[in-house]
Amino acid sequence: MKTVNIDASKSYKVYIEKGSLKTAGALAKEISKGTKAVVVSDSNVAPLYADAVLQSLRNEGFDAELFEIPVGEASKNPENLVEGANFLIDKGLTRSDIVVALGGGVITDLGGLLAAMYQRGISLLQIPTSLLAMVDSSVGGKTAVNLKSGKNMFGVFYQPSAVLCDPDVLSTLPAEEFSNGMAEVIKYAVLRGGKVAELLEKEEITNCLEELIEECVKIKRDYVTRDEFDKGDRQFLNLGHTVGHAIERGSNFSVAHGSAVAAGMCIMARACEKLGVSSRETTAWIEKMCEKYFLPTDSNISSEELYNDSMADKKREGKSLSFVMIKAVGECYLNKTNAAFMKEILSHGNGGEL
Ligand code: NAD
Ligand code: GLY
Repeated sequence: MKTVNIDASKSYKVYIEKGSLKTAGALAKEISKGTKAVVVSDSNVAPLYADAVLQSLRNEGFDAELFEIPVGEASKNPENLVEGANFLIDKGLTRSDIVVALGGGVITDLGGLLAAMYQRGISLLQIPTSLLAMVDSSVGGKTAVNLKSGKNMFGVFYQPSAVLCDPDVLSTLPAEEFSNGMAEVIKYAVLRGGKVAELLEKEEITNCLEELIEECVKIKRDYVTRDEFDKGDRQFLNLGHTVGHAIERGSNFSVAHGSAVAAGMCIMARACEKLGVSSRETTAWIEKMCEKYFLPTDSNISSEELYNDSMADKKREGKSLSFVMIKAVGECYLNKTNAAFMKEILSHGNGGEL
């Protein structure tokens, strides 16, 4: 079993082991003194894995129930959050009981917020089932639901009590969802180089998933422990995201988050190269990795549209925008600058004069 310690405002462990899903009950028992557990999951993941988790919880004496929501980003909404809270009330959960979030990033975000808000906070066990959720959303305490005005507009920082990753569940993850997770993995490689970059170059990534997840979680841990509340260094984790978010919005969310981040990273790489910050080799490496893992290296949205979308982003701080600039694989820096810099990035990286 691989274990990564996260020392944020709450200290907790991320456990990574193939076949560990059946240990969920024992882990819940370790982190909660309660007797009741609610497993939050979606309509894809629940039929595959909820029974195993519920059984494991019941074996440890928990009175365990399933709260299932329809699959998809549209379910990450305030209505399902309130429905979830009412479900916990109906099942009689008290402050000493536990929420188990079993699913991809939609579930780790919504389940996390539900645990944070229910009776002002109860224990949370994150069991991520998509690659993206294992390497990113289940760790670090960002929880949220979407509002009509934008994604992740309504949420809090709330660290889980533990995270359990069983890479075996990735065998049922659709290939394009695996690729979406790989975009965040490539992001970690570009930020820090090292082991993740080495693993990415290997032929068969599925043979080293435990190690890959561990290395990614360690990188995320470093940024989260330095800047839990996202005021400084944690913004490095937004590499490719400033442009990526504009691609997601510009496509009306038909381009998935991971694909948008991959295209966003490649656009940043080409722009940094043209601005003289990085080399052609760096751009080529990033594009090659995106292609290897079936991710786009470009957007088919015009620079003008992307620029207008990013200016309309409601989470933007005033007139400034942060860009993670790429110097080389493993060497990036933050450039908090005037929003107009987006024009330069797009015209160099996405093409078309602005
Ligand atoms: P998702 O939760 O929608 O999962 C993607 C798809 O894979 C869904 O259809 C899901 O049912 C399916 N799935 C998940 N695990 C499966 C499995 N083992 N077998 C079969 N199907 C499986 O989306 P995602 O890509 O995991 O996460 C995206 C979400 O995460 C977005 O809402 C994003 O905002 C959020 N996010 C949050 C953070 C954070 O730090 N909190 C970071 C990154 C992304
Ligand atoms: N996914 C970015 C962060 O956790 O800050």
